[in-house]
Amino acid sequence: MEYRFKDFRILKNKSLTQATQYVRFDKAVAADAIRFHKNLPGYAPAPLVALKELATATGISDIYCKDESHRFGLNAFKGLGGSYAMFRILCERLGLDYKTVDYRYFRKDNVRKQCAKIHFVTATDGNHGKGVSWAAKLFGCSATVFMPKGSVETRRVAIEKAGNATAEITDFNYDQAVEHSWNLALKNDWILIQDTAWDGYEQYPEWIIDGYLTLAAETVEQLGQIIPTHVFLQAGVGAMAGGVMEFLQSCYREKPPIFTIVEPVEAACIYQSVKAGDGLVHTLEGNPSTIMAGLNCGTPCRVTWPAIRDKAAFFCACDDIITEEGMRAYANPIGRDKAIVAGESGAVTYGLVNRILQDETLRNLFRINADSVILLINTEGDTDPDGYQQIVHGKSFTK
Ligand SMILES: Cc1ncc(COP(=O)(O)O)c(C=O)c1O
Repeated sequence: MEYRFKDFRILKNKSLTQATQYVRFDKAVAADAIRFHKNLPGYAPAPLVALKELATATGISDIYCKDESHRFGLNAFKGLGGSYAMFRILCERLGLDYKTVDYRYFRKDNVRKQCAKIHFVTATDGNHGKGVSWAAKLFGCSATVFMPKGSVETRRVAIEKAGNATAEITDFNYDQAVEHSWNLALKNDWILIQDTAWDGYEQYPEWIIDGYLTLAAETVEQLGQIIPTHVFLQAGVGAMAGGVMEFLQSCYREKPPIFTIVEPVEAACIYQSVKAGDGLVHTLEGNPSTIMAGLNCGTPCRVTWPAIRDKAAFFCACDDIITEEGMRAYANPIGRDKAIVAGESGAVTYGLVNRILQDETLRNLFRINADSVILLINTEGDTDPDGYQQIVHGKSFTK
């Protein structure tokens, strides 16, 4: 069932199932990822911010934001995935047992000499490439990063500065940039480290998603006895959303939260695939345009698609104005709630939740009441600082 509202639309999952046949992204997988990340330089759990005054003002129990904008100094959560996948790939290449070694092993000169011969390639809207560049430097490897047409130059420069990669803005859309990277990997014997999966390319994306579980495992620990009733997750290809959702479902089996997947309307590949109703992933054509650069993807990730299709309760496709509202609301909280710097791809869930909380029909649709505990993830900070400043000071890029 599709509901259309001003600036966003909602699809309710007709075939929602709580049955957990096979859970790939569970506690054991998260434990390996978090053990690895804890040994990296600069590791600290990302803060879980309670927006208490907002919760009181809107008549719900709690609203929390896992703020990933400080993660490893990269301004986004993505380094969690790139670094863990690179670790697993290098372990495989060097014949190491990932269960027993950790990053400290990779500080040895003889190991770094071997790593120096390994070159990675990837396509990115920005944040994943920055994580790959940073991880390449950590391990003593190198990388080439391709960005889709329309990418912001400051994000390209940030990728190069973050570590050891060269980055180029291409004329391709995101899917074409991925294909280009894949072809170069085959031609030059580079390793494609891509944060989305397709038939025959699943293992590395799975390891990337395993790495994202660190943020979810930290959140569960930070929440303690509190169980979220509603989780809103933004999606590009849905790798992060699917992994985090499966993990949280496995943690909260007795009281599963209601999961909502949120995308930009122009690049709503999950929304459109669900709407098609045949159970398959569908690819969007053309060069979708949205300020939510990290969410501007045309094909759902095959690894997480079945879980998202079957276990998310709602799918939302939002105009850019929704994330602009979210960015401003995070920057100007009410009362003594903490201000959060949230970029275009980080704030859309908050913008949407604010709209829902203000509307009785929507509150009923999502079953939000006085006992509700809402969990959001701010997945990036001001990764385009100029754009961020303009938006929080009132400018709108909405067409
Ligand atoms: C800031 C930010 N948030 C969310 C996402 C979405 O992640 P996924 O593509 O796994 O859905 C991305 C992806 O690049 C991102 O950069």
